[in-house]
Amino acid sequence: IVQGAMAKAIAIAPDAWIPGGEPDPLIRHQHGHIGKPLSRIDGPLKVAGQAKFAAEFRFDGMLYAALAYATVAKGTITQLDTSAAEAADGVFAVMTHENAPRLNPPPVFLTADKAAGGDPSPVMQDASVRWNGEPIAVVLAETQEQADHAATLIDATYAQDVALTSLAEAIARGTSPGQFMGGPLHNESGDAATDFAQSPVGVDLTFTTPRHNHNAIELHGVTAAWEGDTLRLHDASQLVAHTAWSLAQMFGIDEKQIIVTSPFVGGGFGGKCLWQHQMLAAAAAKFAGRPVRLTLSREGVYRVVGGRGQTEQRVALGADRNGNLRALIHTGVTAKSPGAAMPEPFIMPTRSAYAAGSILLDVRTVDLDSLANTFMRAPGESVGTFALECAIDELAEKLSMDPIEFRLKNEPETDPTSGLPFSARHIDVAWKQGAERFKWHERDATPRSRTDGEWLVGVGCATATYPYYRMPGGAARITLRRDGHATIDIAAHEMGMGTATAQTQVCAERLGLPLDAITFNYGDSTLPGVVLAGGSQQTASIGASVIAAHRALVKELLRLAGNDSPLAGLKPDDVASRDGGICKADEEARFESYTSILDRAKRDTVSVEASPPMPMELMHWSMHSHGAMFCEARVNQVTGEIRISRFLGSFDCGRIINAKTAASQFRGGIIMGLGLALMEETQFDERNGRIANASLAEYHVPVHMDVPEIDVIWTDIADPHTPMGARGVGEIGITGTAAAVANAVYNATGNRVRDLPITLDKLL
Ligand code: MOS
Repeated sequence: IVQGAMAKAIAIAPDAWIPGGEPDPLIRHQHGHIGKPLSRIDGPLKVAGQAKFAAEFRFDGMLYAALAYATVAKGTITQLDTSAAEAADGVFAVMTHENAPRLNPPPVFLTADKAAGGDPSPVMQDASVRWNGEPIAVVLAETQEQADHAATLIDATYAQDVALTSLAEAIARGTSPGQFMGGPLHNESGDAATDFAQSPVGVDLTFTTPRHNHNAIELHGVTAAWEGDTLRLHDASQLVAHTAWSLAQMFGIDEKQIIVTSPFVGGGFGGKCLWQHQMLAAAAAKFAGRPVRLTLSREGVYRVVGGRGQTEQRVALGADRNGNLRALIHTGVTAKSPGAAMPEPFIMPTRSAYAAGSILLDVRTVDLDSLANTFMRAPGESVGTFALECAIDELAEKLSMDPIEFRLKNEPETDPTSGLPFSARHIDVAWKQGAERFKWHERDATPRSRTDGEWLVGVGCATATYPYYRMPGGAARITLRRDGHATIDIAAHEMGMGTATAQTQVCAERLGLPLDAITFNYGDSTLPGVVLAGGSQQTASIGASVIAAHRALVKELLRLAGNDSPLAGLKPDDVASRDGGICKADEEARFESYTSILDRAKRDTVSVEASPPMPMELMHWSMHSHGAMFCEARVNQVTGEIRISRFLGSFDCGRIINAKTAASQFRGGIIMGLGLALMEETQFDERNGRIANASLAEYHVPVHMDVPEIDVIWTDIADPHTPMGARGVGEIGITGTAAAVANAVYNATGNRVRDLPITLDKLL
């Protein structure tokens, strides 16, 4: 047997994460691919300008589209004058509700397995206006500039209806119970109100968080071309298969007649789903009989792509004098649009956070006449942890306890709301390692005790948490060539986070092949699989599909190897991989290479397709990633300016598949958390429902100067109940961050700011 990392055999895993199974051997590091800080395999394409994004495809005869948007929140278009636009240079036609192809309403998210739409409203089918900014016309021209100009010449007159656009007014009219993914946003155990009232120490606090809008650097763009009755759509997408199916419902055709490709996406974050721009581009291409490219302007993204709803949250915590939580209350209200399926579920992180004598969690909703809200960067957990973890800090202070000690004292043994055991929970390790590295012990708990010139300096911490999910991702296909090259096909997504790179590592590890012997194909709805890149679950979901396909491949290889092979008589569970072939797991000399097996079988390739089991692990365990966030903030005593000078995220997310891409995911999340804490805020004009700061000039996100060097560490303790020992790393960085910042600002200044974003005016 050859010595070295590649020589060690690994057993081909049974469906290991299934209840009662053994941990997947892959979660160890036999072949040395898992955990490696491998650079992204798509990186060279991107820096060389060879990665072609959705709005860079070109078709002969292609038209460029621009949208005109409604300027009232609710009403009816009484007159739509398109004559000036139609007469403008280069304009081919203007599509409005009067001449657009007839479309069925979009299937809205969570209402069907493959629904991808953010809003169920009919798309340019009638004269109604449902939100301020709804598209009312598509101008099609020979160049983008001509289309953009002509769109400004569209003149609409409206009969306005009374719109509900004020949160306070909506709340006064009455709230409704929040529902999310088919379940109520409500949990109750014991009598939390009474326990809270009887607690000797308590806090009862209100937190508010504003609307947020998606701002991926790549604008939402799409190129649509009908080839006969088949639509080819180059999209920037987090869900190509869902998009194909959903558009097929709208056009009343078979989903196979829609081909959606999306090999590169310049940031998704929940926003790159199905909105009106894709539907309108596809309809316009049909209407015009020519291919259409529609790229939303930055303003257009604010008008057409939903964001995060506003929240008003109450956190009331009661404890005994020893610091044991007796009552945990987290309730409040969030604004959504009438058709949106997703109220901001801010109690989600609280469900599994702390042991408490009694718990009351509740989300109420109101509907505002506005663009549908949607999933956005840790929906629920991002703003929910802000409220919860600031309140925890305030209570710990009242108890004169260190906030880390207080948290660890109230660690639950089992999930406090579901009663399930945790699949793995090493939050204590994350806190310990983080506190040491950050030098938390140097903190002075007294606010305003540290200055540096005119700057007040403080530190704060908070818990980060995000659930493990695994959606049924459908099949993956593996095709193995006689020369020992494997191709994996699955309709997954690369939005810049390293999907293809991490999965290449997973495949190389399982197959016992070098990394350059693997091709990972994704981003095309004609590939197998129904994968959503969201909920920080794509890696686990695809990994499960790859494992299933690999098991099918091993079975087929054993069949092909037959009785003349050293592998004769082995069952898939006995088999391991090494050095471009398979062997008996505990007898590595019983080996045959892939080349040899296929040679003898006179085959050039072997190709299999298989689906993983349903995500039953979620029924047996409470599954969450955790983190401990540490922040040092500096606040200028003269100007109120806030600067983050140090930040550390210490994570417990199971096995890390790729140290480099995971670290980037953590850092990216933390940067978004800094934006949430300090600057992001949609200025929604409550008088008319118009977003007033629809540009990156006025909607502030962190830039390099706002971001310190961010330190990230992790436990790398494999979760025995997930396909690869890994839980998600995508969204957790944004959780806890705003609370760590707010708690640091308090330590610096003595001011508790409970209203995001924490801008300088709130500190002066
Ligand atoms: Mo994310 S908000 O699940 O794309």
